[in-house]
Amino acid sequence: MEDGGAVPAGAANLVFAVNGERFQLSTIDPSTTLLQFLRSKTRFKSVKLGCGEGGCGACIVLLSKYDPVSDEVENFTVSSCLTLLCSIDRCSITTSEGLGNTKDGFHTIHQRFVGFHASQCGFCTPGMCMSLFSALTNAEKTQRAEPPPGFSKLTVSEAEKAIVGNLCRCTGYRSIADACKSFAADVDMEDLGFNSFWKKGDSKKVKVTKLPFYNPSNQVSTFPEFLKNEFRSSMLFISRKNSWYNPTSVKELTSMLKSTLAESGARAKLVVSNTGSGYYKEIDHYDKYIDLRCIPDLSMIRRDRTGIEIGAAVTISKAISVLKEENKSEFLSHGEVVFQKIADHMERIASGFIRNSASVGGNLVMAQRNHFPSDIATILLAVGSEVNVITDLKHEKVTLEEFLGRPPLDSTSVLMSVHIPCWEPVRNVTSKTDARLVFETYRAAPRPLGNALPYLNAAFLAEVTPCKTSSGVIIGNIQLALGAYGSKHAIRARKVEEFLVGKLLNAGVLYGAIKLLGATVVPEVGTSNAAYRSSLAVNFLFQFLCPFVDACDEFCDGLLHGCNDAFLLRASETSNNQKQFDHIKNAVLPLSAKQVVELNQNYSPVGEPITKAGSAIQASGEAVYVDDIPSPTNCLHGAFIYSTKPLAWVKRVKLNSKYLQDNVAGVISFRDIPKGGENIGSKTIFGIEPLFADDITRCAGQALAFVVADTQKLADMAAENAWVDYDTGNLEPPILTVEEAVEGSSFIEVPPFLYPAQIGDFSKGMNEADQKILSAEIKLGSQYHFYMETQSALAIPDEDNCMLVYSASQCPEFVHSTIARCLGVPEHNVRVVTRRVGGAFGGKATRSMHVATACALAAHKLGRPVRLYLNRKTDMVMAGGRHPMKVTYSVGFKSNGKITALHLDILINAGIAADVSPAIPHNILNALKKYDWGALSFDIKLCKTNHSSKTAMRAPGELQGSFIAEAVIEHVASMLSMEVDSVRKQNLHTFDSLKLFYKGSEGEPLEYTLPSIWDKLARSSCLAQRIETAQQFNGFSKWRKRGISRVPIIHGVAVRPTPGKVSVLLDGSVVVEVGGIELGQGLWTKVKQMTAFALSSVKCDGTEDLLYKVRVIQSDSLSLIQGGFTAGSTTSESSCEAVRLCCNTLVERLKTLKNKLQEQMGAIKWETLIQQAYLQSVNLSASSYYVPDFTSMQYLNYGAAVSEVEVNLLTGETTILQSDIIYDCGQSLNPAVDLGQIEGAFVQGIGFFMLEEYATNSDGLVVANNTWTYKIPTVDTIPKRFNVEVLSSGNHQKRLLSSKASGEPPLLLAASVHCATRAAIKEARKQLASWKGLDGSHFSTVFQLEVPATMPVVKELCGLDSVECFLKSLLCASRTSDCFTLSCV
Ligand SMILES: Cc1cc2nc3c(=O)[nH]c(=O)nc-3n(C[C@H](O)[C@H](O)[C@H](O)COP(=O)(O)OP(=O)(O)OC[C@H]3O[C@@H](n4cnc5c(N)ncnc54)[C@H](O)[C@@H]3O)c2cc1C
Ligand code: FES
Ligand code: FES
Repeated sequence: MEDGGAVPAGAANLVFAVNGERFQLSTIDPSTTLLQFLRSKTRFKSVKLGCGEGGCGACIVLLSKYDPVSDEVENFTVSSCLTLLCSIDRCSITTSEGLGNTKDGFHTIHQRFVGFHASQCGFCTPGMCMSLFSALTNAEKTQRAEPPPGFSKLTVSEAEKAIVGNLCRCTGYRSIADACKSFAADVDMEDLGFNSFWKKGDSKKVKVTKLPFYNPSNQVSTFPEFLKNEFRSSMLFISRKNSWYNPTSVKELTSMLKSTLAESGARAKLVVSNTGSGYYKEIDHYDKYIDLRCIPDLSMIRRDRTGIEIGAAVTISKAISVLKEENKSEFLSHGEVVFQKIADHMERIASGFIRNSASVGGNLVMAQRNHFPSDIATILLAVGSEVNVITDLKHEKVTLEEFLGRPPLDSTSVLMSVHIPCWEPVRNVTSKTDARLVFETYRAAPRPLGNALPYLNAAFLAEVTPCKTSSGVIIGNIQLALGAYGSKHAIRARKVEEFLVGKLLNAGVLYGAIKLLGATVVPEVGTSNAAYRSSLAVNFLFQFLCPFVDACDEFCDGLLHGCNDAFLLRASETSNNQKQFDHIKNAVLPLSAKQVVELNQNYSPVGEPITKAGSAIQASGEAVYVDDIPSPTNCLHGAFIYSTKPLAWVKRVKLNSKYLQDNVAGVISFRDIPKGGENIGSKTIFGIEPLFADDITRCAGQALAFVVADTQKLADMAAENAWVDYDTGNLEPPILTVEEAVEGSSFIEVPPFLYPAQIGDFSKGMNEADQKILSAEIKLGSQYHFYMETQSALAIPDEDNCMLVYSASQCPEFVHSTIARCLGVPEHNVRVVTRRVGGAFGGKATRSMHVATACALAAHKLGRPVRLYLNRKTDMVMAGGRHPMKVTYSVGFKSNGKITALHLDILINAGIAADVSPAIPHNILNALKKYDWGALSFDIKLCKTNHSSKTAMRAPGELQGSFIAEAVIEHVASMLSMEVDSVRKQNLHTFDSLKLFYKGSEGEPLEYTLPSIWDKLARSSCLAQRIETAQQFNGFSKWRKRGISRVPIIHGVAVRPTPGKVSVLLDGSVVVEVGGIELGQGLWTKVKQMTAFALSSVKCDGTEDLLYKVRVIQSDSLSLIQGGFTAGSTTSESSCEAVRLCCNTLVERLKTLKNKLQEQMGAIKWETLIQQAYLQSVNLSASSYYVPDFTSMQYLNYGAAVSEVEVNLLTGETTILQSDIIYDCGQSLNPAVDLGQIEGAFVQGIGFFMLEEYATNSDGLVVANNTWTYKIPTVDTIPKRFNVEVLSSGNHQKRLLSSKASGEPPLLLAASVHCATRAAIKEARKQLASWKGLDGSHFSTVFQLEVPATMPVVKELCGLDSVECFLKSLLCASRTSDCFTLSCV
């Protein structure tokens, strides 16, 4: 934004409203986004920056526009991170605070999010609430029947789809989906999950009354009256450097373009909704921004007999509704089906809040000019669309195909509109033998409902005529379009079309066509998964055409939606309605789920499922995260310049001169460390890591310098455009693989006390074995934490060389001492404050220290406050992530599946510094020992490589260890051709073997609940029955296979020392400080419960309400020292224990007084007791430092999961049909919190096993560094049926009130999804082997399924050429060889 400066004549003000407040701006930098404005210039901080590229939904707002002609307000969501501020003139913005807040009362949406336990760290919650609000607002506008009182017109399916584009890394989505569904008119109350509103057994009627009431007519006003009178003028906004124009006619536009051409060097940018900048992160400034949305010709939609013409500025959402409007009748004509299917496909583009503003023309221009992998280009190409363009200021009409094939449009060419022809009628439709039109679109993407670019998309249109002389069909006109596979733009497969036209379709012709297509669809060099993409083209064409081949049933088992076309073709005229079959394609949602939770009231309110502390303000967006703290006067913003080389001399770091003029205050590097200070960025007990590279950078992603500028945007741009002079002279080549580390003996030491102990005699075990597997290999990659709030800090210099630092950290204590060491000041000069953290998952343990220390160093040097909110890309590049590893194992086993010995050689890629890596070997073994391996030996090396330091990530090492165990078991089972489940069972521990493997942590025999969980889960999930059903399914289904797998876990944890402090204030309210940090895991909630419980033992009136008098406050490293790490799943319980000790002290101090007062007054109220205690100078503040008993500080957690998946053999897509989990939480301190942890961890595990590809380039630089390339789970990728039982086992005498941990262990259970996928692939390979004539070989059983098992990985194992093999086998079996040869190309 600009301020100051007079508005030139003719320039108008920008006027808009935010939550009913009027804003008027005269000068603005046109590149300012709505998010930047809201966060820096208003008090509305609920809009969060999660990605800045339209991929996460954290920044969503409701945008409302008023149409004075119809007197109607249009409401829709947009991503404020991409919306340019100038484009919201005369619009109204509503944020989550605008729906409701602490002062005015919370909105029903907020209340239901709270009650359904749908907010953990809360960073995603305001965006989720806005998505739901928009869906509700728009549903109310429909003509649907009035819903019952308290409900909306929304349907269950719409409610779930409302949040498809929103990412949440904490909850696992189930609880959020329930909160959304609770508004739906068609919801079955029994389907709504665990919540705080009603009790088990309440009738449906009672449940309805207990839900916070929703009154649609009592809606928030989204458009203030005063704005209705603000008339839009033909205006322009001007800043000192750039201008924003709003032409209102084509004439005006062309004259603007003409004048731009005339001005030498002037740069103009045409803008519609600017969503393209989410992909092409333009940092350039333009002289002119020309908004195309006010030109009627670009916003029109024209329908006539020839088709629909859509103006280029029409939004995708509008285009969808127009295309659907064409299809109002119950039975669709062929042409209407085409429009319908185009609309259906468009609904999978991006997410609702992008489609609401993104224009059709913008998409096509990106496809044409930048080779964007567009869906719209492909689908419109298939139907023969044409475009109107202005080039060289002249109008012309060309086919879309020609348009796409032209050289990239220059910046003064304008796409005016696109014409989609009507395919009605094909010919006369009276006779059964007449030609029919068939049209299908396809896309294969990691997320079924959108928000993911496709690996390939396709749209096929054909006229088919039943043959008069035989039972087949003849292909008439056919148009095959394919795109997004790594070509410059969408193409028509002309050769294949020519080959097919006029042919009678049979297996041979089909085979010929797909062979030709395979040769046509060849991605450009460097495209990832090239072979997979080509195979998708083949498979989609097969899917499209196979229904028309005689013996269709043989081909596709009636499962493919294309079959319905054939079915329709043969069916009567009246059944020519494709709508009824859409559910097959759309059967992604809804979800169903069951939660079994046993409540324990022995220690009330501990054990009760109370709602999360602070969740209401999280939902309304009032909860304050570090970046929400208003900037102090003179505050600067920092950004890291990081290395892109793994090992090189850094000769020079230079800023682009353009940014130097632009208010860059300085560039900080290791040279700026003050005298007496140290170049230290983080520390653990294993050592330190430097803050900056010195003369040499030692990994890609290492910080080289820190740019400090007036705004975050400037700092980011300056850092992004900095130039670094590297030199590799006189340096050894970098070590980038674990093998190279071994060769160069480059290791990080593991202290002997942490190195796990071998068990038994491996040689003896091998000698006892009937069979052996020798030197098998597994490789595991990394995973990025993807906390929704990126790393952030604010450092404020204080008097006398002191520094106050706000840090989003899991370990303020270590942030504190790192800063003191870096600045060379005593530790009492530093204070680190952490209130809440927007998700961490281990990533804000050590890595937060670098960010806070860099800010502190810059603040120290410049004497001004300095803050940093890392952009997503830098965060991903620098975060380090989970430890990749290579495992080689040898295993011996009996023929009944009992394993007798296992040896592992594990090479862990630890990156450049120790971080927490020395703990990883212990963690791996801890989880791997879940089975009785007989003898267990290993050699584990921590390889020091030139990669960024790998760090803690939720269940660090345990996740890999548990998976390695499963991989070994799977391998053994496949060698023995046994059921994997029985091999697992065979090797589960007895209590005796458990004692041997987990010496000291095993607890009492009764505490070993795994065997009973194992059996209980089989019953509750109907395992045997479902295995049988899956087998039957696999028997008849050719192109979809199912797999089921049950997996156990044992996860050891250790309780660590933690401080606590409880103070009672004069009015009886209680303030609590703990060492643990609230990261979303519900630590504060449990601490509150424990405080209320422990203080209530003073036994006076009113203590039953103490819960509502307790407030847990931010951690302050000078107020409470020795806070330690919030990590390892046990900080909640240790913080509770520390608090309990404090409360016990206070109760002890109060008891005598209370007894005395009680004698005098009879009953005594809590408040009276406290007032008296104040009068009598009782010390009402108590501190503690809880140190766990050495003998019981370690313990084991147990659980098991069954998952069932279905794999699509044509695309490699895996759908998780069902997951059932039983997890032992002991006597849960708060079952709602623990349930949330279990579900959230499991879904994060699904990300690791199935979706998240952590790609680096050959220098080790992370290249999967945005939401486009790194895909965490979304609501459409979680299990369709998701059942969780929080097992309440109260046998844990040495645990805090018999409770156990829940934060990390359930993550390991997601291996069940991977194993089930493997089982399904096994079935696919059996079938493939039979087609290939390889029956009986190991082909189908012995294979490794990589992690993550992404679509390309799965498809490759199922056979990239499976369709070809199938057709070949069919042809060979049923035809003479010459026939086959004749038909093949
Ligand atoms: C998170 C996300 C996910 C997405 N997923 C998909 C997907 O799965 N499939 C898919 O196909 N697309 C996808 N898109 C792309 C999306 O469809 C485009 O970003 C959008 O349609 C562009 O429209 P816009 O109005 O925002 O264009 P803008 O961003 O305003 O403009 C884009 C470019 O086109 C130029 N331009 C715009 N209109 C014209 C015109 N009429 N004449 C000449 N030049 C013009 C602009 O100067 C600019 O260079 C995704 C986008 C986002 C942000
Ligand atoms: S921050 Fe806008 S969508 Fe992620
Ligand atoms: S609660 Fe959704 S990201 Fe944390």
